Amino acid sequence: MDDVTVGIIGGTGVYDVPGLELEGQLPRSTEYGEVTFNKGTYEASNGASVDVLFLPRHGSDHSIPPHRINYRANIAALASAGAGPILATAAVGSLREDLPPGRLVLLDQFLDFTRSRPSTFFDGIGRVEHTDMTRPYDEGVRCLVTRAARRAGVDLVDRGTYVCTEGPRFETAAEVRMFADLGGDVVGMTNVPEVVLARELGLPYAALALVTNLGAGISDDPLTHEEVLEAMDANRRQLGALVGAFFEEVAAGDPRGEE
Ligand code: HPA
Repeated sequence: MDDVTVGIIGGTGVYDVPGLELEGQLPRSTEYGEVTFNKGTYEASNGASVDVLFLPRHGSDHSIPPHRINYRANIAALASAGAGPILATAAVGSLREDLPPGRLVLLDQFLDFTRSRPSTFFDGIGRVEHTDMTRPYDEGVRCLVTRAARRAGVDLVDRGTYVCTEGPRFETAAEVRMFADLGGDVVGMTNVPEVVLARELGLPYAALALVTNLGAGISDDPLTHEEVLEAMDANRRQLGALVGAFFEEVAAGDPRGEE
């Protein structure tokens, strides 16, 4: 294995990486702002070690709301630190009753309903870039996650369309019906523009969504952030097992390798 630095972006409920030996913090300056990674090493069972940069997306104290996250600084910092593959986690609501809380979904498409966040690195005048987004998530990294799930014995739904809302409010029942009618499988507030920015810089990025609740109006109960945190907590073990197996897959071979 060549030297590889894995980037992990932890979503709601993911503030550390199980099995990761932490070595300290790595500050990084970008033209969009400062980012501080938790830096660590994962010792794989084949004797190889994998460098890991971990970034809790909402801050280590969950203080940054989805529409205020500095997505450009985060992705620019991962790029300048040489990270790739990158695996992100995201807590999501489900738009389908057959995707109940506790299911893990490896995203393969998104629908963008965000409105007010900086969403591109190419916003200057003088250079016009249109980035292909046909398949926004990196197939090589998705493949590593699929293999990792098999290795860890974790049940994984291997594709799903993520609807990204602006937040920070949850959806209305009508929005959830519309998103489902449009072909969405899960709904969250953060994966766009993160995935887009990674693609703009050519970084191999995939995202793992953990269903924490049924979408608004599918169940009669009002949604709360506490419910989302409780569901993340209940599934910490399987998420940790999957991320550990992901490091094992990276250590075992070509991080961009196909099946
Ligand atoms: N909607 C939006 N974001 C979410 C949800 C939801 O139902 N659950 C967890 N994150």
